[in-house]
Amino acid sequence: MKVAVLGYGTVGTGVYEMLRTADGLEPGPVLVRKGKACEPFMTTDIGAVLSDPEVGAVVEAMGGVEPAYSYAKEILSSGRHFVTSNKVLVAAKGMELAALARSAGAAFLFSAACGGGVPLLHNLSVASGSDRILSVSGILNGTTNFMLHAMQSRGLDYAAALAEAQELGYAEADPTADVSGMDAARKILLACAVAFSRLPGEGVDCEGIESITAEDAADFMGRGFICRLIARGVPVGDTVAAYVEPVLFGDGAPERSVAYNSNMARYEGKNCGPMVFIGQGAGRYPTASAVLRDLSCILEGRREMMPEGCVSVRADNSRELHRYYVRTNGPIGDELPIQETLVSGPAVRAVTEPVSVRVMHDYAASVRSEGGNIFYAALEV
Ligand SMILES: NC(=O)c1ccc[n+]([C@@H]2O[C@H](COP(=O)([O-])OP(=O)(O)OC[C@H]3O[C@@H](n4cnc5c(N)ncnc54)[C@H](OP(=O)(O)O)[C@@H]3O)[C@@H](O)[C@H]2O)c1
Repeated sequence: MKVAVLGYGTVGTGVYEMLRTADGLEPGPVLVRKGKACEPFMTTDIGAVLSDPEVGAVVEAMGGVEPAYSYAKEILSSGRHFVTSNKVLVAAKGMELAALARSAGAAFLFSAACGGGVPLLHNLSVASGSDRILSVSGILNGTTNFMLHAMQSRGLDYAAALAEAQELGYAEADPTADVSGMDAARKILLACAVAFSRLPGEGVDCEGIESITAEDAADFMGRGFICRLIARGVPVGDTVAAYVEPVLFGDGAPERSVAYNSNMARYEGKNCGPMVFIGQGAGRYPTASAVLRDLSCILEGRREMMPEGCVSVRADNSRELHRYYVRTNGPIGDELPIQETLVSGPAVRAVTEPVSVRVMHDYAASVRSEGGNIFYAALEV
């Protein structure tokens, strides 16, 4: 099958290179921006890709919603298979593209959009056909894992950890999507769609790592904990709980050993039990390998990853309960039931009674709206 590639950046170059030696696949035209076509296999005209009768599948690796969305619609309408690594596109338009693919008899797969080389969506997609998935979670953002690992293993403060991540190319010049947890939130949204046929388009609570200080890390590490940024999705009634937040892990948790910019994804099936994957969540070849896996699956007849009947829902995080480690720069309000005050002084440190994710995230938002400073992390013991 001849495969066209849209976008020739980090992922696109990896996909093109791997296509040259892949069984049953061969590289087709590559779409680049105007003025950037410097090789014979490149084109700046999407029409040339769409009108090439030999192209059976198209890989999109440009990023963003447009023009990826418009191109995807044309590609799928023409009956060609469409594979993307673009989580922004799938989060915004995935259900519509899945319906279009179904009606055209074409494939729409997006393994690389969540977890890069870590085969979470691929396995979830297969497992959810034969088992009931009870939860999906993981360390789905390599940049923040690199920063947290640097802060906890070498005592760097947040600014130094971010600067190092940027120097090494793990963090963008504008790191907001990563450090705010938004990138991980988009990924857990896709995992919920694949695992539970429910895509939480709204209500996903998202706390990143921007509030953690070197003092916080020293304090909770002194108490035997290691912090990781965790995205989690759980079916709840007709909807799902879906959220991103820092979590403190005690002894024995596999999350503690996920170092540098690695990812870790886990799901639990009613019959298969817990499954854990650890690997590279980004990078040219790990991500391209996930794209090639999707293409190989298409050759074997696989057509969809977003289940038929998937619906958009508002996440409900009011029934997910955790105890939280909380640090504030002032007294903690009555809205948060405190089990134990660890440190009282200018910075208060405490552990809450079990409270819902909703209550905790709302409380933090209210503290910040009044100019206060708060770091919190769920306790996983
Ligand atoms: N990098 C990773 O490790 C990774 C991992 C998982 C998923 N992804 C996802 O994969 C996608 C691509 O990421 P990337 O890291 O490869 O990005 P990238 O290095 O910036 O590459 C994107 C390429 O697409 C080109 N492009 C953008 N719009 C275009 C258009 N309208 N026509 C033609 N070319 C266009 C860009 O050209 P210009 O440079 O001229 O803008 C660039 O060469 C994103 O959705 C990303 O979230 C990336």
